[in-house]
Amino acid sequence: MDDNKNNLREKWENEVHSTLKRFPERKESFMTSSNINVERLYESDQDSNYVEKLGYPGEYPYTRGIQPTMYRSRFWTMRQYAGFGSAEETNKRFRYLLDQGQTGLSVAFDLPTQIGYDSDDPMSEGEVGKVGVAIDSLHDMEKLFDQIPLDQVSTSMTINAPASVLLCMYIAVGEKQGVPLDKLTGTIQNDILKEYIARGTYIYPPKPSMRLITNIFAYCQQFVPKFNTISISGYHIREAGSTAVQEAAFTIANGMAYVDAALESGLAIDDFAPRLAFFFNAHNNFFEEVAKFRAARRVWAKIMKEHYQAKNPKSWKMRFHTQTGGSTLTAQQPDNNIVRVTLQALAAVMGGTQSLHTNSRDEALSLPTEDSARIALRTQQIIANESGVADTIDPLGGSFYVEELTDKMEAEIGKYLDRIKDIGGAVKAVEEGFMQREIQHNAYETQKRIEKEEEIIVGLNKFTLDEEVNPDLLKVDEELEKSQIGEVKRVREQREDDKVDQALSAIRVAAKNDGDNLIPHILEAVKAYATIGEICNVLRDEFGEYTG
Ligand code: 3HC
Repeated sequence: MDDNKNNLREKWENEVHSTLKRFPERKESFMTSSNINVERLYESDQDSNYVEKLGYPGEYPYTRGIQPTMYRSRFWTMRQYAGFGSAEETNKRFRYLLDQGQTGLSVAFDLPTQIGYDSDDPMSEGEVGKVGVAIDSLHDMEKLFDQIPLDQVSTSMTINAPASVLLCMYIAVGEKQGVPLDKLTGTIQNDILKEYIARGTYIYPPKPSMRLITNIFAYCQQFVPKFNTISISGYHIREAGSTAVQEAAFTIANGMAYVDAALESGLAIDDFAPRLAFFFNAHNNFFEEVAKFRAARRVWAKIMKEHYQAKNPKSWKMRFHTQTGGSTLTAQQPDNNIVRVTLQALAAVMGGTQSLHTNSRDEALSLPTEDSARIALRTQQIIANESGVADTIDPLGGSFYVEELTDKMEAEIGKYLDRIKDIGGAVKAVEEGFMQREIQHNAYETQKRIEKEEEIIVGLNKFTLDEEVNPDLLKVDEELEKSQIGEVKRVREQREDDKVDQALSAIRVAAKNDGDNLIPHILEAVKAYATIGEICNVLRDEFGEYTG
C-alpha cells in the first residue's frame, strides 16, 4: 500500500474511533453463520488514486457512504409514509407503526392541505382525507401528534407550497408539548421545483415560492437548527417516467437552484447547506439504483466543495431518504409487489440511504391496509436484522460492475448538469419545459417497450392470471368530509377573530416586502388558529397563482 493510501486509511480509522464514542457499533462483533468475522470495510490494495476517487465512508467525496461506520452503528431510519382521513385516524396509524418498530414518522397530507385549501373550500370537494390526512388548522395538528412526544421522534412532512404553514403548525405543537425549538427534528419537503416539473401541488409562481423556501432556510437556521429545511426530491421525477440518470441530474440541478436562491437571499453557504436533504426513488434495476445513489453522492459533494466552496464537510454530504418505486407496483397479483419492494429496498440500503419507506403491496389499488403497511415495514426489518447486508459498509464497493456503472452514471449526470447550466439553471429549464420534455420522452419510450413486451412486468404483460383475486382494500370513510367540515367551522367559531385578523394582516404587509421573513408572521397566525386556507389565500392575493 503506498504511503498516501496508508495516510488516508489512518485518517478514516481516526474518524471511526471518534464516531464510535457517540455512535457505538450495534454489536461487539459481526460474524457470518460459519463464524467468519465480517470486517467493517473491505477494500482492494489498489493505489491511493482509487481510494481518493471513492473516499472512505464518511470521507469526501462519500461514494461509500456519508458516515464513517454507516449501518454498523445505526440502521437507516425506517420511516413509513402514512396519512389518511382525519387527524385522529392517522394518529392511530402512526402509533401502530411506532409500536411495530418504525423509527421515524412521515406525514402524507390530503390534496386540499397540499394545495392550501380548507376542507370546506369548494375546491376540496371529494378530496378531503383521500390521499392523506386532512389538516385545516393547529387544532388538527395537535390531534395528529397526540401521545407522540416530538422530542423523541423525527417527523418528515410531505408538503411543498404551504410548507411554511405546516412547519409553523409543527413548531406550535412542539411548544404546546414543551419541546424546545432547538430539539425539534424532522424534515419539510419544501421542494417546489419538482412540483412544477412532475408532481403538481404548486400554488404560487417560482419567485415568491423560492422566497418562502429561503425564508424557511433562514428561520430554521436561527431557531430550529436540527430541522432539515428541504428534501430535494427525485422520487416524483422518476415516478413521472425519467431515467435513473435524469432523476439524479434534475434533482441535483434543482438543489443547485435552491443553493443559489439562498445565497442570493444573503445566507452563507455553511449556514444552511448542512440541513439540505434529498429524496430519491428506488426502482427495479438493482445495480443501476445502487450506482445511482453512489454517483449522486459523489457529484453533490464535488459541487458543494469545489463549485460553492463550502468549507463545512456537513455541507458536502448528500443525506437522503428513499422510497421504493410506486410506479413499479402492479394492480395485478399484488403479492408480487412484496418481492419488488424487497429488491428495491435492498438497492437503497446497498446504496447507503439514511432513511427508507417501503411501499405496500396494495398501493397500486388504494392506500395501504394496516396488514400491508406492517409487511412493508417488516421487509425493512428483515433486511436490517437477518440479511447481513448492514454488517459491513458499502458491500458492493469495489465490484467491477458497480464501480464502472457508478463512474458512467456520474459522467451522464454531469452532461445533463452542463445542459441545464447552458439553459440558465433549473428554474429557467423548468420554465422552458426542458426537464419535462426529457421525462415525457423517456416515459413514452418505456411504455412502448412494455407494450411490445420488450420490457417484462411479471403479472402484467407476462406470467399473467386469467382470474385476478381482489384483496381487501382500505376504504376512507365517506362521512369524513362532512365531519372535517364541521370541525373547521367549529374552530373558526371558537377562536378569537381579532387575533386572527391581526395575524393575517401582518402576513399581508410582510408579503409586500421581499426583505421580510414571512415565517414569524405565519407562526403567529397558526397559533391564533388561522386556517391553512386563510393563510394561503392571503398569499394568493399577494403573490398570484402559478398557472403552469
Ligand atoms: N454514525 C454517526 N452518526 C450517525 C450515524 C452513524 N452511523 N447514523 C446516523 N447518525 C446521526 C446523523 O448524523 C443524525 O444526527 P444529526 O442530525 O445531528 O446529523 C442522526 O443520527 C439521525 O440520522 P439521519 O439524519 O441520517 O436520519 P434521519 O432519518 O433523521 O434523516 C434525512 C434522514 C434524509 C436527512 C431526512 O431529511 C429525512 O428523514 N427525510 C425523510 C423524507 C421523507 O420521508 N419523505 C417522504 C416523502 S413521501 C413522498 O413525497 C411521496 C409521495 O408524494 C407519494
